[in-house]
Amino acid sequence: ELKENTIIIVFGASGDLAKKKTFPALFGLYKQGLLPRGVHIVGYARTKMNDHEFKKRQVSYVKGTDDPAVKSPLDEFKEISSYISGPYDEDSGFQALEEHLLSIETKYASGPHNRLFYFALPPSVFIPVAEGVKKHNYSKNGINRLIIEKPFGKDLESSRELLSAIGKQWAEEETFRIDHYLGKEVVKNILLFRFSNGAFSPSWNNRAISNVQIMFKEPFGTEGRGGYFDEFGILRDILQNHLTQVLTILAMEPPASFGAKDIRDEKVKVLQAISPIAPEDTLLGQYVAAKGKPGYLDDDTVPKGSKCPTFAATTLYIKNERWEGVPFILIAGKALDEAKVEVRIQFKDVTEGAFKDIPRNELVFRIQPSEAVYLKINAKVPGLHTRALPTNMDLTYKRQFPESKIPDAYEALILDALRGDSSNFVRDDELDGAWKIFTPILHWIDGKNGDPIKYEYGSTGPEEFGDYIAARGYRPSDGQ
Ligand code: BG6
Repeated sequence: ELKENTIIIVFGASGDLAKKKTFPALFGLYKQGLLPRGVHIVGYARTKMNDHEFKKRQVSYVKGTDDPAVKSPLDEFKEISSYISGPYDEDSGFQALEEHLLSIETKYASGPHNRLFYFALPPSVFIPVAEGVKKHNYSKNGINRLIIEKPFGKDLESSRELLSAIGKQWAEEETFRIDHYLGKEVVKNILLFRFSNGAFSPSWNNRAISNVQIMFKEPFGTEGRGGYFDEFGILRDILQNHLTQVLTILAMEPPASFGAKDIRDEKVKVLQAISPIAPEDTLLGQYVAAKGKPGYLDDDTVPKGSKCPTFAATTLYIKNERWEGVPFILIAGKALDEAKVEVRIQFKDVTEGAFKDIPRNELVFRIQPSEAVYLKINAKVPGLHTRALPTNMDLTYKRQFPESKIPDAYEALILDALRGDSSNFVRDDELDGAWKIFTPILHWIDGKNGDPIKYEYGSTGPEEFGDYIAARGYRPSDGQ
């Protein structure tokens, strides 16, 4: 565990990701006293700016700065932060960084020096920076760790190139690949829920479950991020990583222990049991202008006539005894009618007896917003008659745990990396497994096959979506 004498070096420190996620999370941890004692933060990027400008930028996304409980730790946080600019592909940059790191270390700490390197970088410079850091900035007498942000490759081949080039410099145990969905509270609850509730274990399989939906909906478009997004599309942005990770946790066999190795071994087995996605199992969409909001192609940063999907639904089948025949439907879309990420597990119909036409049970994990787990069940309406009503057994976090603060995903993950716990990070073979499933359909789309179906900004997605999920066994039920 990195408890003291640690410098956290953030590469890409002038970028959006660092500003919006990394620094606010580091500050959140600092404020709670969860960063190592005597920690220092060093930002590194190509942009030239002085320390003052950097610090202003660094804390621009921190909320509640008027509150004295925030202001005073924030002043301290700025005090322990510094910035240095330089190139990503020349020795000189890493040498200058090294001098800076050494000056901090000699001034503030004796004994072994630990370094946590955080790559909030475009993937095109992952390799040179991983090499430069290893050559010039690797601590010889302390612990070194590397946190890498997505996108980790664009397909199986490019992901393997990255894995192999970075793997030559950095051991897998030192490498922490972030998928921030693994830091979300409800996603973390899935494992515990599954393996600690005997009521559900006997029905967590194809005998009881009809279909599973894992759905991501965002109410805004690419807005200014179109240039980046167009290179990747919704499948790489959300499905291949975030939703597939959630799927593996839902579907894995019980791990031998809750240690990182055992959990990830089981997740990999799920991926290995899934065949590559077929185009005919996939519905692609792209949003168009509506209600005064611009369409995807109206974004100036998007190439003219792009066929890049901003919505996708696809179905994965897990070929093992537990899941044979159960469709796992992954759905993600931008510019939809609401912000919602949830998992819906639909149980099979009651086929015998007096209630055979009754709505199905459905177990819902609402990942965001308003975290909840609820089970749709049928209950007798109280009274002197027998009438069944679909209702909810409801675990809404705010009501159930009013005192608990739901941790930010990035805070949770950075803390895990400092503690050396990699259970919630993506191991090399998981990446490989996920890319194997998605690469054929991605190449098919990249080859300009398949025109995405147009859907209106602010709608529920392409009109065909209802038929798509119905054909895979999903039945809408009453209520939420
Ligand atoms: C990122 C995607 O990984 O996740 C973004 O690149 C997306 O396009 C974001 O908006 C969603 O994250 P969250 O935590 O807001 O659900």
